[in-house]
This record gives sequence, structure tokens and C-alpha cells, in this order.
Amino acid sequence: MKYHIVTYGCQMNLHESEKIAGVLKEAGYAEAAQGTEDADIIVFNTCCIRENAENHAFGNIGALKKLKRQKKGLLIAVGGCMVQEEGKAQILKEKFPFIDILFGTHDLPALKSLIERKQSERRAVVSVSEARSAVEDGISPVRTSYPNAWVNIVYGCNNFCSYCIVPYVRGRERSRRADDVLAEVSSLVRAGYKEITLLGQNVDSYRDGDVGFSELLDQVAGIEGKFRIRFMTSHPKDFSPALVDVMKRHNNICKHLHLPAQSGNDRILSLMNRRYTRQKYLDEIALLKREIPDCAVTTDLIVAFPTETEAEFCDTLSLVKEADFDSAFMFVYSPRKGTRAAEMEQIPEAVAKERIGRLIALVNANTRKKSAAYVGKTVEILCEDFDAKKGMYLGRDEYGRMGYFKSEKNRVGEFVSLRIREANGISLYGEIE
Ligand code: 5AD
Ligand code: SF4
Repeated sequence: MKYHIVTYGCQMNLHESEKIAGVLKEAGYAEAAQGTEDADIIVFNTCCIRENAENHAFGNIGALKKLKRQKKGLLIAVGGCMVQEEGKAQILKEKFPFIDILFGTHDLPALKSLIERKQSERRAVVSVSEARSAVEDGISPVRTSYPNAWVNIVYGCNNFCSYCIVPYVRGRERSRRADDVLAEVSSLVRAGYKEITLLGQNVDSYRDGDVGFSELLDQVAGIEGKFRIRFMTSHPKDFSPALVDVMKRHNNICKHLHLPAQSGNDRILSLMNRRYTRQKYLDEIALLKREIPDCAVTTDLIVAFPTETEAEFCDTLSLVKEADFDSAFMFVYSPRKGTRAAEMEQIPEAVAKERIGRLIALVNANTRKKSAAYVGKTVEILCEDFDAKKGMYLGRDEYGRMGYFKSEKNRVGEFVSLRIREANGISLYGEIE
């Protein structure tokens, strides 16, 4: 029996798909070599953060109707954030009656028993539970991102940014025990993983007794072995000098902070319920760069939040210039049912489109400028993969820049010194020294 998993959304979801694979493996399935073609179960792990993520999933699930009719015994399961959204499981069930199993974000560990139930009851099984308080799921994930390994440290979110649906579908914050996190990282490093990414919707909220995020990071960085550490996502309202101090003291922590600003305007930040000001954000970055001058800073930005004026949007543009971001994820605001911002006065689509175009042009110009400054320098890259189209290996430096190079020998999982001879957009090209 074979499985195929289709994943939408963030790194949290990518890691959860590894856990879905872990549950399926336990149930006797192996990964399908040809994707949907030779799979006996197809699982969609969905995202609901913006409308287009949902539309993607809807389109791809709908496209399976024919295959499902042709292939007797094929199981289709849909899980994750979209299923957890209020009323969505019912909509999915009505729109796609051929779905066999619908499971929410808290029902992943039960997938094996849901498959068994489906096979004995012979009708669609729906399981959308409330958040569990237990944080250890006991699942051994089938890791797919060697040499990187994702490690959850905190689940859920208590922040309720007014645009965001995450707190509704992921529940309240729950931290794992520090001992469990440290044991997992140690065993991953022993198993040969070279990059550990600590994950949480808001890593700064991590707490296990006296151990907050800075203390946890300090302890993880103290683990023996050659590996690097990344973490995401941080929240500017929780930014602490202690975190900067830990980053400064350990050179295995990547000099990269992903700090979502969302907007550069105080009225919009307040409407977003972000609980920091533009000035506080800029002060944080100034402190970070004072302590770690070459630290890369990336961000998330939303344009056309309800009621955003042209002048307020321009504050986001000027923030980009002042903060000098290395790169940014940029989004058009997407109303999510049940969130406060969805009830506010919306911005016309044409205005939103025009604004995102201007923002992308500005951010990309800065990213290109920073890439160009790499030419002639030597950077340490952790080789992640081989790009068959380019015929080159690729990997990232600690700042998160992608570097490509040629090699006779397979370099995946190795740290290599790369002399950069060319920069193209956000990508760097070089030779091993
Ligand atoms: N519309 C647009 N972007 C959103 N994000 C979260 N919710 C929305 C929404 N409703 C963005 C934020 C967040 C990132 C993960 O997704 O920028 O940091
Ligand atoms: Fe959403 Fe805000 Fe929580 Fe991030 S911090 S997951 S944007 S509510």
C-alpha cells in the first residue's frame, strides 16, 4: 500500500506532513513513487491563511474526482487548517462527496484509526476535534528535508492579530517540555542532520517553567556537534535583548532573524492588534544590528489591510527602506471569516494589486543590491539539494541566501566554502574553494 501527500502552506505544515507520513508508515504504507498515479491513499494537508491557499486546495481536490471513480479502493483524505475552520468540513463534504476522510489539525495522530473506521463503516469519516492539551504526539516523522530537520517547540497562538485565522484553527499556545526538545535535537544531530529549525507560530512565547525561548535556544546551541540552528517565527512585541545576546554568543545560530513587521504605519499596526509601533520595530532592528552588524533581517508585509490609505501604505514602503530588509514575504490582505478585520471596510482589489506591485519592486531591488555585494566574497553554504534543471548543487548560507555550484561529487549534507562569482536576483553562483 502506498501514500502520496500534497502539502500547502508554511513550514509547520511541511513538518506536519512528515508526521502524517509517519502515521501512514506505522499503518503499513510506503511512499508512492509516482505521486497520485500509484497511490492507494492521497492526503491533502491544507492551509487557510489566505483565500488563494484554499482555492488551490479546492482545485486540486476537485481534479481527483475522475481518478477516484476509476480506481476502486483509492482513499482520499483531507486534513489540516482548512478542515479545522468553522463550517469548512461540511462544505468540503458537500462539494466533494468522494472524500473519504476529513481530519482537523488536532486529529492527525488518529489518522490510522480513521482509515480503519472508514474501511469498516464504508462511509465518509469526519473528525474535527478541539485542541488537545497533550503536546507530545509520539509520532516518528518521516523526514523529507535532510540535511534540515524541523522541530516543533510551541503549538498554537494566543495573539489574535485581527487579520489572522491561525489562533482559531491551531488553538491556544502549548509549549513542549525543554527536555523533550533537547532530546529530539540531540538525536537528530547524532543521526547526521546539519540544520535544525525550531518552529512555532510565535517562538518567543515558548515557556517551560523557568525556560523561555532565549534559554531554550541557548541550550539547543550548546548541543555537541557541527550543525546550525534556525528558528521561526518571532514577534516584534516579544523581541528581547536576551535573544540577541544568545545569538551573539553562539556561532552555530544563523545570523538571520525573521521578524514580521506587517505594516510600517502605527494606525494600521494598532488595527492589526500587533501591539508594537513602527519606532519600536526600528529600534529593535537597530539594537540587533548594533550587536550583530551582519545579521540578516527578513520580514512579512501585508498591503491593503482594511481602511489602509495611500499615505499609510507609503509608510510601509519607507519602513522597507529604513529597515533595509534582506528579503520579505509580501501579501495582499485576504479577509478570513470570523476574524475582526474581515468586518472592517475593505480596500478595492485594483488598489491592492497596484500597492503589492510597488512593494514587490522596492523589496526586490533591495534584495538584488544585497546579492550584488556578495560577488567576490566567500561564504559557507550547507548543500541541500541538486537542481537537475541547472545541473548544479544548491544550499544556503547562514543568512539564508541560496548559492548554486557545480560539483562532480554529491555534496548534499556537506558544508562547503563557496567563492561567489555572480549574483542573479536573489540567487548566488560560485565555485567551491
Ligand atoms: N491576509 C494576508 N496575509 C496574511 N497573513 C496572515 N493572515 C493573513 C491574511 N488574512 C500573513 C502575515 C503572516 C504570514 C504568515 O501570513 O504576514 O506573518
Ligand atoms: Fe497569526 Fe499574529 Fe499569531 Fe502570527 S502572531 S499566527 S500573525 S495571530
